[in-house]
Amino acid sequence: MSRDTLTQILNLARWAPSGDNTQPWRFEIVDDYRLRVYGFDTRDHVLYDFDGHPSHIAHGALLETIQIAASGFALSTQWTITSSGDDRAPVYDVSLTLDPSLARDPLFGCIETRMVQRRPMKITPLTDTQRLALVNAAGEDFRVQLFESTADRIKVAKLLWDSAKIRLICPEAYPVHKEIIEWRARYSKDRIPEQAVGVDPATARLMEWVMQSWDRVEFFNRYLLGTTAPRIQLDLLPGFCCAAHLLVRPTCSPVLLADWVRIGIAVQRIWLTATLHGLHLQPQMTPVIFRWYARAGRSFSTEPALFEQGIKLSGNFEEIAAATPTEDFGFFARVGLSQVPKSRSIRHDLDALMK
Ligand SMILES: Cc1cc2nc3c(=O)[nH]c(=O)nc-3n(C[C@H](O)[C@H](O)[C@H](O)COP(=O)(O)O)c2cc1C
Repeated sequence: MSRDTLTQILNLARWAPSGDNTQPWRFEIVDDYRLRVYGFDTRDHVLYDFDGHPSHIAHGALLETIQIAASGFALSTQWTITSSGDDRAPVYDVSLTLDPSLARDPLFGCIETRMVQRRPMKITPLTDTQRLALVNAAGEDFRVQLFESTADRIKVAKLLWDSAKIRLICPEAYPVHKEIIEWRARYSKDRIPEQAVGVDPATARLMEWVMQSWDRVEFFNRYLLGTTAPRIQLDLLPGFCCAAHLLVRPTCSPVLLADWVRIGIAVQRIWLTATLHGLHLQPQMTPVIFRWYARAGRSFSTEPALFEQGIKLSGNFEEIAAATPTEDFGFFARVGLSQVPKSRSIRHDLDALMK
């Protein structure tokens, strides 16, 4: 295998999604048939990276993208976790085998065109073909539950509205929000560009000014209904304006690192399948993450009231999904038809991602 082929595969793989575009991976070409991925997570400073699991999900999305990319070069892949124990710094070895009979994965062409759509989508219902493709994309270890009716989309929009309130008034979430937006940008290599956030330009300017300090955020939230405009634009409207919400539920509880990685594999297959079928997707992970905290009995804030709100939110979520508090939720997103976003996160150059 030429190094050039491995470089091309990694160049494609770096387009895998990760929470807030953190790209929690570095690469090494070990030899002509072996790649190594050094994973990391951001749990030390990112409230949403609960036990590193969103990063582990991103690792899975990356490994699946490597597999799909490699299929374009008639290479099959196999990954193993070679690091012992520490899921803060997992190492994945990927071996590649030439297999001339291997067909290129139909999702190959979607690797670079897949992207988040955070703005409202059309409410055109899913076709039977789209629905079936999404439900089957995750594989047999997952159940994909869809919420499509007007009544269900209203319920989910309300859930997102409530979840956003917690997110916006939580002091521990503030440094994350401040860090992840690249203001006045259309593209961002290491964050989310302002124009892909999903608010109008006036709200963006206000947010940029307010988010300079927590004092300003608190003042706005308390006296000027500061959470209202962003919540309408980022949660309520998009929550309603889509074809469906999609909840990925693992049939076995994720316990080991590999279980979380497998959720990421399913996520990337669902997302690329949505792209293949002309749909856009936006993950909406905060209600899932607040529920992980709530059901683990772990507070995520110095403000005790926020934990109580997290518990209530989890109960509402379970009611919508007809689930018990012990059943696992892995990934939550909305899908629908829309125009191609004019702004998106891009990626670090491959050189910067090499170990
Ligand atoms: C595990 C995971 C969780 C994510 N959670 C959210 C989310 O809650 N809201 C959101 O708008 N995007 C979310 N995203 C999307 C990322 O922000 C996005 O993939 C990243 O910024 C790169 O942009 P791109 O997908 O357009 O290339 C998530 C992605 C992953 C992999």
